[in-house]
Amino acid sequence: MTKVLPVGIAGLGWYVPERVVDNHYFTRFVDTSDDWILQRTGIAERRFLADDQRPSDIFYEAGKRALENAEVRPEEVDLVILATISGDFLGCPATACIVQDRLGCSNASAFDIQAACTGFVYGLQIGKQFIASGTHKNVLVIGGEALSRICDLHDRNSVVIFADGGGAVLLQPHDQCRQGLIEDSMLGADGSGSHFIQRPEGGGVKPMNPQILAEGTHLLRMKGREVYRFAVERMTTLMSWAMEGQNPEELGWVFPHQMNRRILETASGKLNIPKEKVYINIQNFGNTSSGTIPICIGEAYEKDLLVKDTLLVFAAFGAGLTWGAARIRW
Ligand code: UT7
Repeated sequence: MTKVLPVGIAGLGWYVPERVVDNHYFTRFVDTSDDWILQRTGIAERRFLADDQRPSDIFYEAGKRALENAEVRPEEVDLVILATISGDFLGCPATACIVQDRLGCSNASAFDIQAACTGFVYGLQIGKQFIASGTHKNVLVIGGEALSRICDLHDRNSVVIFADGGGAVLLQPHDQCRQGLIEDSMLGADGSGSHFIQRPEGGGVKPMNPQILAEGTHLLRMKGREVYRFAVERMTTLMSWAMEGQNPEELGWVFPHQMNRRILETASGKLNIPKEKVYINIQNFGNTSSGTIPICIGEAYEKDLLVKDTLLVFAAFGAGLTWGAARIRW
């Protein structure tokens, strides 16, 4: 039987653009208020790219910081995996290749994956396989979005939630980095819910035309209320899966996808997970889709909040529909 190597997280990095956008900004475009957004989502402000920035600026910065943190040179990286639905171009070429070039990862292959808000957890699982099989030594997994570039400023159901930012981890064989052991992970999908969060037109089914452009139906749309119910149920199941058979005393942090503060509090409350163990920073950064989990863990690491040998749980759910979870022993 082929030997499977344990995989660890050797380095972390995250980046959000400097431009701060508060809730009042949206009242110029839609009928909303600071109070509504804060009460219903928990978001007070978020970051958007400046007009002269590119989505890949986010992925590049996050990746660079993860490599620096792991003390790994770009040429040593074997593979760059980028989880995003809002890259530099319309699907071609892969933004991962642009990031690979900018980082100077000259010996790495690179590809994008699309699993929306679950993208980082999908990337982690994929990257893990390359290290576990022994074929790769350094895999850079980046999750991030520039959702301000694909949201409709005139759609209040979605625009007030989504934001820009991302993070990255460098995966290595655990016996090399001796940190962040990925103990277990799982993924799931249900395409019958694909209509809940989507860019309805402008793709292969209805290629771009002037009417689509004028009506903005190529931009991101979300049926928030329907997604809400499913999100609570799924996030509860994922956190429960990650902690099944584990000693709750060993839980360090749950790092959930930051979709909505109310969803996170309801789901973790159902499992009696203490509030102070659920990492929430949605108030500052909004919902950056595949960026939220690596931003959260990167920020927690910088604040020295990760305690050796404790358990960290990642849980995410999003468009596709997709979901995934991972349990890490830090
Ligand atoms: O990250 C990927 C997965 N995404 C999610 O999990 C998101 C899940 N959904 C949500 O977070 C929430 O459903 C939203 C934040 C999107 C919406 O919050 P809600 O409490 O579910 O509101 P709702 O859709 O049930 O709408 C309640 C009311 C409606 O008005 P009526 O019909 O009661 O008159 C909406 O039209 O709030 C209205 N509304 C708004 N009002 C002010 C919807 N959006 C806004 C807004 N400002 N931005």
